[in-house]
Amino acid sequence: DARSTGTIEDVYPEVVAHRGASAHRAEHTRAAYELAIADGADGLECDVRLTRDGHLVCVHDRLLDRTSNGTGPVSARTLADLAELDFAGWSGAEPEIGVLSLDALLALVVDHDRPVRLFVETKHPIRYGGQVERELVRLLARYGKASPVSLEAAEVVVMSFSSAAMRRVKRLAPAVPTVLLTAGPPRKLPPWADILGPGIRKLRADPGFVERAAARGRPTYCWTVNEPEDVLLCAELGVRYLATDSPSATRSLLARP
Ligand code: G3P
Ligand code: CA
Repeated sequence: DARSTGTIEDVYPEVVAHRGASAHRAEHTRAAYELAIADGADGLECDVRLTRDGHLVCVHDRLLDRTSNGTGPVSARTLADLAELDFAGWSGAEPEIGVLSLDALLALVVDHDRPVRLFVETKHPIRYGGQVERELVRLLARYGKASPVSLEAAEVVVMSFSSAAMRRVKRLAPAVPTVLLTAGPPRKLPPWADILGPGIRKLRADPGFVERAAARGRPTYCWTVNEPEDVLLCAELGVRYLATDSPSATRSLLARP
């Protein structure tokens, strides 16, 4: 089957674990990603931010306060500072000490016995004048993920709400697929956007979106799909990648093997 031939399964929508299996484990922790993989997710989603000393770490918010026992901006701390903090206790789970770096998440993905696609969302892209994208592309190159031969073969996909950020990624690593995330209708279709990423509210309001995108050669990535009727809507419309907090529940709705 697809797993033994080393390709990502040709079954859609691909189920992408949003911040890991974040309905069941603290978001962006190793435990959340390990559970997502164990639950059969086809892909993993993570948000990345830059530390004061230039490392990319998997944290959604600008501030540490919600998802760790630290306070203040992620960008004011070094990687060594973040290695001391607990990123799971806030959720009622056992403590998980140390932030998950993108480096460590890539190592986890690469080290796995079946292909798992990683969707990396860059946050705060403008303020750092390209440093986020340069560090991201440097890591992808180190893991041999910067030159996929096709979208199907790509194990890392980069995404952002910022057109400027995605243009920079395309300049640095033209082969890496990019998603333009949009809450509402995209104002225009940029040539560099390989995949379009509307929110589920947008698709509910405009179900023709997926077909129009496909007519222009763009698969759709939809976020964040947790309600059963939305999962089924996405499958019916032909959404290619579906981000969800619970890959196990989503897979069972899709009757995936
Ligand atoms: O997958 C895109 C989605 O994650 C964007 O929203 O706030 O969860 O990063 P957010
Ligand atoms: Ca995200």
